[in-house]
Amino acid sequence: MALEAHRAKFPILADSTYLVSHSMGAVPAKAANYLHDYHAQWAHEGIAIWERWMPFVEECQGLLGRILGAPGDSIAFHQNVSTLFVGVLSCFDWSAKRNKVLYPELGFPTLKYNLQTHAALGLRAIEIPSADGIHQPAETFINAIDDETALVVLDHGIYRSSALIDVKPIIAAAHQKGAKVIVDVYQTAGVIPLNIDDWGADFVVGGSHKWLCGGPGASFLHIHPDLLPSLHPKLFGWMAQADIFRFADKVDPADSARRFMTGSFGMPALYAARAGWEAILDIGVHAIRPHNLLIAERILEAAQSRGFRVNSPLKHELRGGQVCVDFEGAERMEPLLQRRRIFLDHRPGCGLRISGHFYSKPEEVDELFEALDELRA
Ligand SMILES: Cc1ncc(COP(=O)(O)O)c(C=O)c1O
Repeated sequence: MALEAHRAKFPILADSTYLVSHSMGAVPAKAANYLHDYHAQWAHEGIAIWERWMPFVEECQGLLGRILGAPGDSIAFHQNVSTLFVGVLSCFDWSAKRNKVLYPELGFPTLKYNLQTHAALGLRAIEIPSADGIHQPAETFINAIDDETALVVLDHGIYRSSALIDVKPIIAAAHQKGAKVIVDVYQTAGVIPLNIDDWGADFVVGGSHKWLCGGPGASFLHIHPDLLPSLHPKLFGWMAQADIFRFADKVDPADSARRFMTGSFGMPALYAARAGWEAILDIGVHAIRPHNLLIAERILEAAQSRGFRVNSPLKHELRGGQVCVDFEGAERMEPLLQRRRIFLDHRPGCGLRISGHFYSKPEEVDELFEALDELRA
């Protein structure tokens, strides 16, 4: 399908220069239809709507599973990654000798915060430093895994440099030492082709409001099917029971990843997110990535020709979806550009984060850099 036909499905693209899908993907027009369906069906069916909603959740699991390369029933939904991560942490005994958790210095803060809040239970959080503030090489994790390591936390894409962590050898090394691994794919799902079955990760977590164009509230956790039966999350609820509507007195977790879904599900978020997941599946992540790299080339050329510092790996295969560039005064640009309806974002220690998705035009990069030239003059 031609670029203009894709663009027509995303209303914000009609009047903006949208280079911020690494932070908030453009909302598809179809999301409004689905949210309307959500209301209309609920208004008509009342309490009986649960009979529609339960299979709807399973359909959503299947759709997302196709994007991630994992079976649908290995996927749990929740409002955000923070909650899902606490669900995972609640499966471990932090008073045991094996209570170390390794995590990347440059990882997204919400995961670090939850490691800190678990220190009182005995969890020992070990930060794996980055030598250059951009990369987090696999060997630095592999060398640190020992017999006391319970869990390794990895960001597949680093939010503040866009460097990719080579997760597969780390997972293999962790398993050899009896440790588990959780990979956060929030920064890469929808732009980098994933086959998480092939990784063999114990847990994969992420959300829908970036490259998946699905909005907030539809985060997901994949649990390796072989591991699932042995996991007993302490963050629990009645909708995670094997037989929800039996209202049994005793805990009896579902066989599937639903055992991580606690209480009543956030249905509107799933209705909205479905439009984004379908858009990604229509095009296919294998087709999205080359276009994303074409735009990245243009960003790199424009930044380097102006002498801006690039705080991302230069090699495509080491970099995720966005390119991070910095210069004096970069921290002031985001709101100034927003007034011109040019969207990107800024992060401390990183600079401006800029990216193109399947709906982006190379000329948008030129518009951005021309605006930066004016604002810096
Ligand atoms: C790598 C990563 N993990 C997690 C999150 C968000 O966490 P939560 O879903 O708890 O808001 C983000 C950003 O929004 C992120 O970039």
